[in-house]
Amino acid sequence: MPTDFAATKARFHLPEGVVYLDGNSLGPMVRTAPARVERAVTQEWGEMLIRGWNQAGWMAQPRALGDRIARLIGAEAGSVVLGDTLSIKVYQALASALEMNPQRRVILSDTGNFPSDLYMAEGLCRTLGGQYRLKTVAPEDVLSAIDETVAVTLITEVDYRTGRRHDMAGITKRAHEMGALTVWDLAHSAGAVPVDLAAVRADFAVGCTYKYLNSGPGGPAFIYVAPRHAEIARPALSGWLGHEAPFAFDLDYRPGRGIERMRVGTPPVLQLAALEAALEVWEGVDMHEVHARSLRLQDLFIKGVESRAPMLHLATPRSHLMRGSQVSFRHPEGYAIMQALIAEGVIGDFRAPDILRFGFTPLYIDEDDVARAVGVLGRIMDQSGWDRPEFKTRAAVT
Ligand SMILES: Cc1ncc(COP(=O)(O)O)c(C=O)c1O
Repeated sequence: MPTDFAATKARFHLPEGVVYLDGNSLGPMVRTAPARVERAVTQEWGEMLIRGWNQAGWMAQPRALGDRIARLIGAEAGSVVLGDTLSIKVYQALASALEMNPQRRVILSDTGNFPSDLYMAEGLCRTLGGQYRLKTVAPEDVLSAIDETVAVTLITEVDYRTGRRHDMAGITKRAHEMGALTVWDLAHSAGAVPVDLAAVRADFAVGCTYKYLNSGPGGPAFIYVAPRHAEIARPALSGWLGHEAPFAFDLDYRPGRGIERMRVGTPPVLQLAALEAALEVWEGVDMHEVHARSLRLQDLFIKGVESRAPMLHLATPRSHLMRGSQVSFRHPEGYAIMQALIAEGVIGDFRAPDILRFGFTPLYIDEDDVARAVGVLGRIMDQSGWDRPEFKTRAAVT
């Protein structure tokens, strides 16, 4: 059965009059989320109190929901667990991977990577005493930069600014040929593009749930460890819930079985309840169809913007093979243009220095939304509707 995108759209709450093109930053709310969170608050927390850990299955949620995410990223059952933020999961994966390749000292990343990934890598290098080095190259040079000095590649598959997509299979293969391990950041991939971690033989992967997986602001991150490494990888953040027997309260740390060891501390139960509701939307949804439809919507948008607003310059590759689920345009007044769009109900976002980002998430975006966004953008550019002082004052979050 082909994916019914009209049915998935009906499952989201989208405010009246809004075209929401920012699911690449924060996904919208599924209609069932409030009731599910309310149940977690009133019936579980309210009535069960501490008994909720067992009776409501709170303690098992990070693994149970991990399995549901595993299906969306081509991961083996039992290889994904939820918890913490993505920055923390980057650190964890990287630390384990480095330790598994002890002869090497270089972490290879690219200049398109999300700054937090690079900051975490730099911080880890310092913690390890400075023998390690983070090397960044241009995104298009990653493949050729993988040599026999590289311990680990740390790459975000889809560039948060340009939407450019790396060749995950090719980079992973090359890394393995050169004796390196791979850590993939799937922040802009999970729920957006077909990912097959098992097939490409990825070593570690991490991602967030508040973007395309719609868990809500502050939703937890996930981590994947390939089953062939899961009993070897040593968790650098050795918290009690990653212990083999947390409730034995031993004084010494022993890592838990497999992916369990990547847990750190108490799971965010209320956020996991929202995520549980959000993941129900994916039943009957085919990831290949999602991406194919996203590309069609992106093409429609690119064509419309290039004809109605030619002063905006496409920053996203034209090749379908090199695209995720967002389209970015450059303009020196990008910030003000985005504020003018938002004031008219077309919500995207801005990334310094000059990028306007638009996410195309077919679960709730359709051709009518694209036409409306193009029309509003065209009118704003025709009439310089962005050229107002209130659109030029930068908010804390852009
Ligand atoms: C690619 C990528 N990596 C890491 C992060 C940081 O995530 P968090 O704030 O959940 O730690 C983000 C946030 O948007 C991201 O896009």
